[in-house]
Amino acid sequence: MIDVNEIAGVGVERHSVRRPVPPQKLDTLSREIMALKEKHNAVILAHNYQVPEIQDVADYVGDSLGLSQQAAKTDADVIVFCGVHFMAETAKILNPGKTVILPDLDAGCSLEESCPADKLREFQQTNPNFYTIAYINCSAEVKALSDVICTSGNAVKIVEAAPRDRDLLFVPDENLGAWVMEQTGRPMTLWKGNCYVHVEWTHAAITRIRQTHPGAPLVAHPECTKAVRMLADEVCSTEKMVSYCRAQEAPSIIIATEAGMLHRLKKECPDKTFIPAPTENCACNECRFMKMNTLEKLHDCMTDLAPELELPTEIIERARKPIERMLEISAR
Ligand code: 13P
Ligand code: SF4
Repeated sequence: MIDVNEIAGVGVERHSVRRPVPPQKLDTLSREIMALKEKHNAVILAHNYQVPEIQDVADYVGDSLGLSQQAAKTDADVIVFCGVHFMAETAKILNPGKTVILPDLDAGCSLEESCPADKLREFQQTNPNFYTIAYINCSAEVKALSDVICTSGNAVKIVEAAPRDRDLLFVPDENLGAWVMEQTGRPMTLWKGNCYVHVEWTHAAITRIRQTHPGAPLVAHPECTKAVRMLADEVCSTEKMVSYCRAQEAPSIIIATEAGMLHRLKKECPDKTFIPAPTENCACNECRFMKMNTLEKLHDCMTDLAPELELPTEIIERARKPIERMLEISAR
């Protein structure tokens, strides 16, 4: 029997090192990116954690669910995916005939790393009655081994729709999985993976910031630990944070998720003040993987149509079924 605890806890460098783009260069690059978009009939899809200058040239900015829905319906010839590798893989799986490019092929994810496909396959063999629900933050190989995919935006709905006569295995995020168990009351075996950014927030640091801003609601991503989620007024996906904040009367809101979200929120709710939730020792709320993408790399990848994301046909075919099942359940 595999101890899933031994698999988790992948070591990652914590910080991203970023230099701001000088304003004149930013203008030139942005203009050229727009021209390249026309030239290649390309669509730029960007996650909410991307740097502001990438969000500002994207056709669509959103959470993992919105991005996969956009990828499923695009009629562009080229998909330029500004996010992390597993997100671009999802776009490719849904569009095997299209060219999918990304600014940096090495933009990974600590959750994806925590769940290697061979370890998952071995673990699944310990119980033939497992129904595997995979959080979208995993590799295409792991998706191919799963019954259904979910995102933070639809995880509750997906788990509620899972067959009642099966034992649920949820991979790879133990925090999202625990939150979904609380919401649905459905027991699940949880893979012991976590997001190295979201586990940085502590009960003590969040309690302090709440005391400093007593009137400000706290919104947290479900990848945060229970000790933090229990202090939150709302726990939701990054896209739902936008609608939650829009509906708030309070002028200030504390946000416990990756720093890129603040740019999106400021654009959507210009009348509100967003307070980034502090971590214990440092401002560790930047995902170094998401921040590997820069405007310069986006420009280069659209010029060269490379790096291009490619996947074996057999993986695409097997991974597409659980993603399509997710999209179908989500649309109900
Ligand atoms: P969302 O789908 O809520 O945007 O989350 C993606 C992610 O990677 C969170 O760390
Ligand atoms: Fe993965 Fe965490 Fe980065 Fe999201 S923030 S891409 S879960 S490492």
